[in-house]
Amino acid sequence: MRVLVTGGVGFIGTNFVKYVMSNRPDWSVTVLDKLTYAGRQENLSEFENSDRYSFVKGDICDAAVVSRVMPGCDVVVNFAAETHVDRSIDDPASFVRTDVEGVRVLLEEFKKDNTRKVFLQISTDEVYGSVETGRSSESDALDPRSPYSASKAGGELLAMSYFTTFGVPVIITRASNNYGPFQYPEKLIPLFITNAFQGEKLPLYGDGGNMRDWMFVTDHCSALVAAIEKGRPGRIYNVGDGQEKTNKEVTFAILEATGSDSDLIRFVEDRLGHDRRYAVDVSRAASELDWKPEIDFETGLALTVNWYRANAQWWQSIKSGEFREYYKKMYSARLENSERNQ
Ligand SMILES: NC(=O)c1ccc[n+]([C@@H]2O[C@H](COP(=O)([O-])OP(=O)(O)OC[C@H]3O[C@@H](n4cnc5c(N)ncnc54)[C@H](O)[C@@H]3O)[C@@H](O)[C@H]2O)c1
Repeated sequence: MRVLVTGGVGFIGTNFVKYVMSNRPDWSVTVLDKLTYAGRQENLSEFENSDRYSFVKGDICDAAVVSRVMPGCDVVVNFAAETHVDRSIDDPASFVRTDVEGVRVLLEEFKKDNTRKVFLQISTDEVYGSVETGRSSESDALDPRSPYSASKAGGELLAMSYFTTFGVPVIITRASNNYGPFQYPEKLIPLFITNAFQGEKLPLYGDGGNMRDWMFVTDHCSALVAAIEKGRPGRIYNVGDGQEKTNKEVTFAILEATGSDSDLIRFVEDRLGHDRRYAVDVSRAASELDWKPEIDFETGLALTVNWYRANAQWWQSIKSGEFREYYKKMYSARLENSERNQ
């Protein structure tokens, strides 16, 4: 089986390709990635000499590139996206471009060959919007509330329309918050782990009570392989670990795991429109894909902290680049205000 993995050198893509290379020896992988600030080709350098792996630098919105790389692929797994909610508040246009238009370009190419097996669109539980109680199931109405989640919802609706209209074998997965190795340190867990290593403050949004259903990234990867092998075209599958934690609980767990002191915490002005809680019902994935998560939060966090400890060069080179400007813009004023109000 030949799999085209778009966004394959971002966080989840990298982990997915590693998972496939070790667990599916009869699959080969082509990665198509634009190498935005979030993508690092060297993440997969161990496979450079493998005849099962190839890398193409390119944009999923570029129909010429897509029509060059997709022929011969049986499966497309579309991870490529702009993914950071905070950045979507600042620059929605790049999100609509990649997360909606990019999906259309991929689907147009995919539908030219009706022998292809699966178009797997990687989506998010954020498309349900904030759920104060209970758990979202796949038939619930979508209520995306950030430019990020709205563009992800647009992308998956478009994908499903290609199933209905053209019979393209689209499968959609809606995953909860992932964490683990190779995550760009703008996201909560790697940001706080690396800040704690550096003795920097941990800027915690609002009252720290926002709740997420945290999933270790390899659990997501096993669900995606199960969706490709056992999923039904036209079907949507929630994927999550059911391990709900507030951001404050996550922060204290990181302090403990890194041996840091709670005086690093600073409560800062909240993200605009910050959804309070996401939680998904994963019974469909459990029964139809025969999938279950395996890594509990404590184990996953220890693995993650150890990885960032052992790979300081990876994140330090990121934090010394474009990231510095981003961090200043996001947090300087927030941290100053928080110090003033202490
Ligand atoms: N991280 C999470 O917790 C989470 C949860 C649910 C769903 N998802 C979804 O999973 C997917 C992967 O997320 P991630 O956290 O690995 O993201 P990421 O930001 O770490 O990586 C995104 C990758 O896509 C590439 N990319 C961006 N725009 C592109 C374009 N136009 N053409 C080609 N490549 C492009 C980037 O270079 C990068 O390698 C996304 O679709 C995201 O919406 C993520």
